[in-house]
Amino acid sequence: MLKGAFITFEGGEGAGKSTQIARLAEWLRADGSEVVVTREPGGSAGAEAVRHVLLSGAAEPLGPEMEAALFAAARADHVQEVIRPALQRGAVVLSDRFLDSTRVYQGGTGALSEQLLRALERVAIDDFSPDLTIILDIDPEEGLARAQARRGEGQADRFEKEALAVHGRRRRAFLAIAKAEPERCVVVDATGDADRVAAAVRRAVTRRLELIAFDAAPGVR
Ligand code: TYD
Repeated sequence: MLKGAFITFEGGEGAGKSTQIARLAEWLRADGSEVVVTREPGGSAGAEAVRHVLLSGAAEPLGPEMEAALFAAARADHVQEVIRPALQRGAVVLSDRFLDSTRVYQGGTGALSEQLLRALERVAIDDFSPDLTIILDIDPEEGLARAQARRGEGQADRFEKEALAVHGRRRRAFLAIAKAEPERCVVVDATGDADRVAAAVRRAVTRRLELIAFDAAPGVR
């Protein structure tokens, strides 16, 4: 049984993060783990309030730096109020997006300097980091088509509206993170059948987190 592990899911629009998180949560619960499913931006009361400001585009006129500062503020609250307490009581936390989304959306493909990005990370979460990050990789064209089908007639959010080329750059930025931090990240091909993707996610979790599962003191790894 897995205990006290923090797993994040990352990837572009329509990669199937929420489906795969639900599948993994079900599997872990069947094995006896307490599982907390959460998301960013949001996940705690304070951060959910900031989420609305960010996704509506209301913060866009403030510029990319201040937008990134709001993502960081939301993340600080999320970690302090929800993630750390859950890990401390031995739960497995699954987060739909986390730190790497800021690195990719505001950093790599946004206008933010590396220096400011690192400074915000330090202020918001210091050296706190996921135990495992699953990057669901999909061709942006397929991902956007999926996201659109899911949305139906609804409006695209501020970050979904951008051009296909931007989504391609984000995909490459996620893959670059995985390459730079292979001990934390696993890339899973997210195309096609959800069952096959779910099996690949379970394999990654089993392989990577075996050691953590037997770790007696979560949070001090
Ligand atoms: P959401 O509706 O949760 O969509 P998705 O299914 O794509 O996760 O929207 C979150 C949006 O916010 C998404 O377009 C990515 C963006 N985002 C950032 O730009 N920076 C961040 O740090 C995070 C967490 C999300």
